Amino acid sequence: MKINYREIGLVNTKDLFKKAVSGGYAIPAYNFNNMEQLQAIIMACVETSSPVILQVSSGARKYANQTLLRYMAEGAVEYSKELGGDIPIALNLDHGDTFELCKSCIDLGFSSVMIDGSHHPYEKNVEITAKVVEYARRHDVSVEGELGVLAGIEDDVVAEKSTYTRPEEVQDFVSKTGVDSLAISIGTSHGANKFKPEQCTKNEEGIFVPPPLKFEILHEIEERLPGFPIVLHGSSSVPKNLVDIINKYGGSIKDAVGIPEDQLRKAAKSAVCKINIDSDGRLAMTAAVREVLSEKPEVFDPRKYLGPARESLKELYKHKIINVLGSADKA
Ligand code: G3H
Ligand code: 13P
Ligand code: ZN
Repeated sequence: MKINYREIGLVNTKDLFKKAVSGGYAIPAYNFNNMEQLQAIIMACVETSSPVILQVSSGARKYANQTLLRYMAEGAVEYSKELGGDIPIALNLDHGDTFELCKSCIDLGFSSVMIDGSHHPYEKNVEITAKVVEYARRHDVSVEGELGVLAGIEDDVVAEKSTYTRPEEVQDFVSKTGVDSLAISIGTSHGANKFKPEQCTKNEEGIFVPPPLKFEILHEIEERLPGFPIVLHGSSSVPKNLVDIINKYGGSIKDAVGIPEDQLRKAAKSAVCKINIDSDGRLAMTAAVREVLSEKPEVFDPRKYLGPARESLKELYKHKIINVLGSADKA
């Protein structure tokens, strides 16, 4: 059975990106794997009146099942209306690695897919991306491509070293593939350990300050592709207070460093119109769960620790929308 995303109230990203680029803000792209994460995202976006891109990764598909997640997204559209919000919601496949996977998501009702061919040689990346675009176009589904490799290790997204995007390739890539947006590598990376301590300096409060993002690469890309939507993956900020709570209550997260929020704010004001955040949400939930279970050892009802985790996640997402991405009141 094939379903078009419009039938279930989702939107593609074209209009969202057009407004974000001209308005100088970025759309939040938040990953979800379970009900509490999805509820937190929808509550945060409705309360701030922000558009949102819900993301399903390969890891999420394995953990929770692609079909179930897609029906949850359909439920999220209705849930947002019930909460009184009329916010645009897109559903994106995060880091799709094959044509077949992208096709199956499009057929299932996703409104956007990322085909991540960044690990392939350039010509192969062009070929696989163009094939996905050709199929997606027929269904008016948006496609995100990627040039340059982000470092980081997670379930299904693994690269030890990053390779910055080469600005001289972007025009050729976009014109040959027809992608709607382009993810680039300018110093962000996946996970909670984005930089080694020796790459950072320390400020007065003892907080690691990482090297700045390569804004010169971003500007060159903007000059070559004026007004074209750019995407930043690996954009968690790894808040120190969350890492401290996790470690205080028995966790062991060492040398965690993220992307400072002011860097992301600066990027959001430029052609960067989609910012991917996943790890910070994981930290927020884990901190809350650890705290409740340590402080209240008698608790065994999952709602008693997942409820506070959801609340903490919602506050984190609202903070990003209002203070970092600038997407509040843009729904
Ligand atoms: O970019 C990667 C996302 O954070 C998803 O990670 O494959 O562990 O779900 P995951
Ligand atoms: P973080 O690991 O920095 O949250 O990045 C998430 C991401 O890029 C999802 O595609
Ligand atoms: Zn990513």
